[in-house]
Amino acid sequence: MTGLASFNLSGQRALITGAAGLLGREHAAALGELGADVVLTDIGAAPLQALCAELAAAPGGSFRAMVMDVTDPASIAAAARAAGPVDILINNAAIDPKVTATGGLELSRLENFPLAEWHRQMEVGLTGAFLCAQAFGTAMAARGGGVILNIASDLSVIAPDQRLYQRPDAAPGAQPVKPVTYSVIKTALLGLTRYLAGYWAADNVRVNAISPGGVYNGQPEAFVQRLSALIPMGRMAGRDEYRAAVQFLCSPASSYMTGQNIVIDGGRSIL
Ligand SMILES: NC(=O)c1ccc[n+]([C@@H]2O[C@H](COP(=O)([O-])OP(=O)(O)OC[C@H]3O[C@@H](n4cnc5c(N)ncnc54)[C@H](O)[C@@H]3O)[C@@H](O)[C@H]2O)c1
Repeated sequence: MTGLASFNLSGQRALITGAAGLLGREHAAALGELGADVVLTDIGAAPLQALCAELAAAPGGSFRAMVMDVTDPASIAAAARAAGPVDILINNAAIDPKVTATGGLELSRLENFPLAEWHRQMEVGLTGAFLCAQAFGTAMAARGGGVILNIASDLSVIAPDQRLYQRPDAAPGAQPVKPVTYSVIKTALLGLTRYLAGYWAADNVRVNAISPGGVYNGQPEAFVQRLSALIPMGRMAGRDEYRAAVQFLCSPASSYMTGQNIVIDGGRSIL
């Protein structure tokens, strides 16, 4: 299969974690467009069902909602049983802490960052990806192949520029920052990607990552301007600008690619 035909996903089942959020719906629409049977999973049933109803109107594959907590192996096992054989897994769930000044002790700062918060974010963004890969990837390897796509971030390849989050009303030691967890989790996902790619290469399970830059989602104008000034293309991403990369990496179009990370960031990380 070559060319556009190699993007075809009819007869393939895809499962997306954290699918009810901003980008999960885009991944779902992208795979549905190629004919996949898409299982959308997240921790709450209602938003998922609403999203499935919305997506069902679009031409292409089919969409199902399933509650699944990526931090809970029993919940993953139950979803795996209910979903049926999964050919494509997108590890998308994460806690992306919004950076806002609290007025009190600034907990986002490294020196104040609560251990419990470190564990909570690691559990969803990193342990969750491991647990889902362990469950679904092992089954893919046993069945003769599959695809895992890990959603990282431009912060997997660059450090956060903390000047982006500065507040004029906060003292220097109380400035909010992008927490350490986000960088550590997203960078570790690339290590997980390479490890799994090597581990399952002979079993025809391909594992890749994308590192998206910031998506415009109605953020405050001052923030958007500051971030855009750091991006050679001069703007944040549209929410649908990762769809084609997801389609490429989840389909046989990328059949000779594994263990890699595609950075899609308007050029931010080249500076
Ligand atoms: N939005 C961006 O600008 C951006 C940029 C780069 C990377 N990313 C990455 O893309 C992915 C999706 O981002 P988003 O903006 O859609 O985030 P989002 O916060 O809108 O969605 C994340 C989803 O994960 C779910 N989730 C949280 N805990 C969970 C758990 N225990 N089990 C299952 N699901 C759980 C949430 O309910 C939520 O629906 C994340 O990995 C994020 O880090 C986003």
